[in-house]
Amino acid sequence: MSHFWHFYVAGITLIFIGVMVWLFISTGKAKVTTGQNKQGEETTGHVWDEDLAELNNPMPRWWLWLFYLSVIFALAYLVLYPGLGRYQGMLGWTSSEQYQEEMAYANEVFEARFAELASQPLDVLAMNAEAIQVGRNLFAHNCSTCHGSDARGATGYPNLTDDHWIWGESVDQIWHTIYFGRQAVMPGFSSSLSDQDVTRVATYVQQLAGLDVDATMAAQGKKQFDVICAACHGTNGLGNPMLGAPNLTRGVYTYGGSLDDIRYTITQGRNGVMPAQRELLGETRAKLVTAYILSMKPQFEQNEALSHE
Ligand code: HEC
Ligand code: HEC
Repeated sequence: MSHFWHFYVAGITLIFIGVMVWLFISTGKAKVTTGQNKQGEETTGHVWDEDLAELNNPMPRWWLWLFYLSVIFALAYLVLYPGLGRYQGMLGWTSSEQYQEEMAYANEVFEARFAELASQPLDVLAMNAEAIQVGRNLFAHNCSTCHGSDARGATGYPNLTDDHWIWGESVDQIWHTIYFGRQAVMPGFSSSLSDQDVTRVATYVQQLAGLDVDATMAAQGKKQFDVICAACHGTNGLGNPMLGAPNLTRGVYTYGGSLDDIRYTITQGRNGVMPAQRELLGETRAKLVTAYILSMKPQFEQNEALSHE
């Protein structure tokens, strides 16, 4: 908050309170009595419809006191809590600190409840109904924005329910992906491949996935592929989970499998990032959410009914 706004906000707040108090005191003191009605009561002198006079009754005491009390409360509040421009208040209260305290408390409660459960091996957890249930909730809050509420992914975000695993399908690899995160580096080739070469290579990529494409184009593309792409994607396009270079023979794509999509991937490159959950979720939560992901794998199928109930 700049200097100007600090004084502007603080000034208006204090002046407003001051004016209210002054208004009450001054109107309370003001002598307005200018007449009496037939019953001998004081009136303000205002008369309507010939005989309807406004009586000059003081405001009820309790009402006045309530007003003064609220002024005292407001001033005390402004001394103790932030409210006057930049002034922090004597208690040093901040909403972000309160949020952090509440989060820390929630975390403590969570750890107390689930740390022991989550200390079991992941392949045991993946068949534990409670772990899967909690993991599914954690997924909804922390992962579904990217991977979809049903974990089936979207363009740019892999489907986690199929058997196509870019970064490896073992329990350890999946845990590693979630806990430590992954960063894919597919460089763009717009400067080293001509437009025509890109189309040829893309055609070969489609052939790798079993599409019935122009064989001559694909054969030309294969030459480029073996020189440039095989280093990461493997000679037969089978991929490399260490690099996160996807298997291109499955016809399953993160970024789409049309000729245009593949051409775009080749020319522009792709840099998918799976954020590490170590700091974001912590170990207990990360284990439970991993258990949920694993529970959808066929090897833990006996729990299929539970995980999808
Ligand atoms: C340096 C290693 C590397 C090289 C070289 C490389 N790629 Fe990739 N490629 C990757 C990685 C890593 C990804 C995953 C990118 C991501 O997930 O963001 C990828 C993704 C792709 C995809 C997208 C797959 C999907 O699921 O949508 C296609 C298609 C592809 N590469 C084709 C090629 C072709 C064709 C070449 C050669 C012209 C090539 N790549 C060269 C590492 C490489
Ligand atoms: C900000 C978006 C984002 C969030 C949030 C996110 N992910 Fe991911 N995740 C990705 C991307 C992008 C990839 C693919 C990285 C790449 O290009 O290879 C990925 C990859 C994965 C993979 C590897 C898939 C494979 O085929 O190997 C798993 C498993 C995964 N995420 C699980 C999770 C879980 C569990 C959570 C929640 C704790 C989560 N993700 C949260 C973006 C996200």
